This record gives sequence, C-alpha cells and structure tokens, in this order.
Amino acid sequence: MTKRVGIFVSGGGSNMRALVNDMTGDHPARPAVVVSNNADAGGIAWARAQGIATEVIDHRPYGRERASFETAITQALAPHALDIICLAGFMRVLTEGFVAPWAGRMLNIHPSLLPKYKGLHTHARALEAGDTEHGCTVHLVTPALDDGPVLGQARVAVHPDDTPETLAARVLVQEHRLYPAVLRRFAGRNTDPLML
Ligand code: GRF
Repeated sequence: MTKRVGIFVSGGGSNMRALVNDMTGDHPARPAVVVSNNADAGGIAWARAQGIATEVIDHRPYGRERASFETAITQALAPHALDIICLAGFMRVLTEGFVAPWAGRMLNIHPSLLPKYKGLHTHARALEAGDTEHGCTVHLVTPALDDGPVLGQARVAVHPDDTPETLAARVLVQEHRLYPAVLRRFAGRNTDPLML
C-alpha cells in the first residue's frame, strides 16, 4: 500500500521539494502533509501551490512548553494518517515524547557525515578541522540529537578555497540526491545504508 509521508520544514524547504518531486509514478510513497513551525517558511507556500495539505504550528506561543507544542503537532497530524515523517530542515528539537511513538518511522537529513558534527554550523566545523571530505547523512530519528541508525550518506570533496557557504551549497546538491533516494528505498522497506 502507498505510504503517506509528512514532511517537516522550517525554511526554504529545498529538501522537501526534492522529496515531493520524487514521489510520483512507481514511488511507494506520496506526500500527505507539509508541517512547519513557521508560517512564513517558503516551503509552506510551495506545498500549498502544489495542492499538498499544510499544517502550521507556531512554536513561539508555547515558550518552553515543548510537550504542549508537540501535542499540538500530534493533533494536527492525526487526520493525515501518516506512515512516515521526514524532517527536512525542521529547526526545532523534538523530545522523546514525540520521537518515541515514531521510532523506526521518522527520518532526518543532517548536513555532515555523522557521527561527525552533530548540531549546528557543520560546514564551518568541517573546514576548521581541515577535513578533506564532508557531506550529508539521512538517519532514523532517535531521542538523541542527530543520532540514530544511518540510512544513507553522500560525500563531497572539500576544496582548499571553500567557505562555509560554498561548501554548504555543494552539500545541498547532494542532499537533494540522497534524501529522495533513501526515502524511496525506505518506503519500499529497504533500510540498508545507501552510500552515494
Ligand atoms: C539543509 O542543509 C538540511 O540538511 C539542514 O537544513 C537545511 C535545510 O535546507 N538540516 P532546506 O530547507 O531543505 O532548503
């Protein structure tokens, strides 16, 4: 049966667009809803224009009440009957209360070769470390930040004249290849790591 995918974004949503654009034809999944904590996220406008359902849950009124914010997300998701969640540049940390019920069914893309550089500023950190290779990882989400079993990685060479911005741009191109390829396999029940 076709899997129903929810995609969580906070910003431009270029990874979300890559996922949506791939979910056609014989792909075992379809986009069911795009979720954001930010009503102004570019990805929300694009999803609406595609006729995809959207849900915006602003995190700000909840302050430090993460559990209440997550309950609101859970309530918004209910009518969409999701099988899989893809975090795609969703910039809110999700707690165990939300993550645990989705164990094995929630994916994230992170712009580093995990386990290196969990958290933010990954490109600058790779440059500071003098790495010759960098990239991105799709992994299953567990309660620990940017942790969980790796489902795929794509690598890029670091150039001597790279800045965090030029490196990020080349990694993003690979993110747009990797995430759709991993989701296609995952929705077809293949969890063997994909190394591009
Ligand atoms: C990507 O680099 C992703 O890996 C990171 O945030 C960025 C989101 O970009 N977590 P976009 O919103 O998909 O364009």
